[in-house]
Amino acid sequence: MPTDLPIAVTGATGTVGRALVAALLDGGHRVRALVRDPETSRFADADGLELVRADLTDPSTVAAAARGCEAVFLVWPFVKADGAEETVAALVEAGIRRIAYLSSVVADDDPSRPDGAVEKLVEQAVPDWTFLRPHGFMANAWHWMADLRAGESVQAAYGAAATAPIHEADLAAVAALALTEPHHSGRRYVLTGPAVITQAEQLAALAEATGLPLSWEELSPAAARERMRAVGRPPQVVDKVLDYQARRVQFPEEVLPTLAELTGRPGRTFATWAAEHTPALRAALKG
Ligand SMILES: NC(=O)c1ccc[n+]([C@@H]2O[C@H](COP(=O)([O-])OP(=O)(O)OC[C@H]3O[C@@H](n4cnc5c(N)ncnc54)[C@H](OP(=O)(O)O)[C@@H]3O)[C@@H](O)[C@H]2O)c1
Repeated sequence: MPTDLPIAVTGATGTVGRALVAALLDGGHRVRALVRDPETSRFADADGLELVRADLTDPSTVAAAARGCEAVFLVWPFVKADGAEETVAALVEAGIRRIAYLSSVVADDDPSRPDGAVEKLVEQAVPDWTFLRPHGFMANAWHWMADLRAGESVQAAYGAAATAPIHEADLAAVAALALTEPHHSGRRYVLTGPAVITQAEQLAALAEATGLPLSWEELSPAAARERMRAVGRPPQVVDKVLDYQARRVQFPEEVLPTLAELTGRPGRTFATWAAEHTPALRAALKG
């Protein structure tokens, strides 16, 4: 049942945040989108939507923006947890008692990422928390756009790496439940999409949706490593990504039932993601 208080959404201009703003408004909830720059945030006026300026690295702005909200969707879009303690404390100081945090499936396993540390901070700070721990996003396909613009092929390793990526609207649906229903408190939801699909098959789905002759050009792991480093991706990230993909050629990810159990319907497929994003993909490929 919607309450009169708004729900604060951080990362509101991001992949999941933007989908969550739409989902909450659709559900009749009031939404306060916390954005760094309301002028460039590209939200259309909508009943129940306020845009409030806040920077996650400036806790006083976060406290001021979240005050009076029912709950907060927290994104921590940084490579380290530095500063998260102050920001979470600012939310508590603003009276927030329920937080749904967009964590990741590696929260327990990868201390080089901030997810696990931010989970601990949130868990200690508020009585009512839910952690979303997704596997990879379908939206990671946007990372291929620079390659595709240059020549309609993706040059990368492990085209046969098979994962179960999740649609941002499905993550948003789970976040909306966690923010508006009491019984998700204290839960860590590991989430995948509805089907296993290889990298090359994802690209084929983009080709099908856009009608463009996009192709996969398989590189050796060494060549892929060099290429990823050349475009500025940190060496330790490059190695982790390639190791993970190599494993997924032999051992595909498994589809988990969590999303369907929570939302009562199967997750959206990659073909659906590609079809929905066709105008944006075509525009990006021409740009
Ligand atoms: N991609 C994956 O496969 C995957 C898998 C598991 C978990 N995750 C997690 O998902 C999170 C990212 O979510 P996303 O993909 O929805 O986000 P995103 O599309 O990468 O967008 C980042 C968001 O953070 C905002 N932001 C950046 N710096 C900020 C600051 N200083 N103050 C306030 N807002 C700031 C951006 O706002 P502006 O518009 O102002 O830049 C934008 O709304 C990360 O924590 C990542 O670890 C990702």
